[in-house]
Amino acid sequence: MHTIKVCVGSACHLKGSYEVISIIQQTIKNQNLSHEIELRGSFCLGQCTDGVSVQIDEGDILSITAANAESLVSSIMETV
Ligand code: FES
Repeated sequence: MHTIKVCVGSACHLKGSYEVISIIQQTIKNQNLSHEIELRGSFCLGQCTDGVSVQIDEGDILSITAANAESLVSSIMETV
């Protein structure tokens, strides 16, 4: 089981964290991954200038946009 944490702090919110969340949510649903990936909102992850900040498990903070949110989910499943 992997956890995707998407920052919903104010900077990331302005950069579209809710759109990123909904794309990830939709991708998890479409690919039937709800038993493999848990999606959570998170407070500020400390990388506000890069945002939308996303953390997979306890890994590095990634900068995700609506354009690469879907491929993020696929990349997690490829590393399993
Ligand atoms: S508000 Fe998202 S990393 Fe700070």
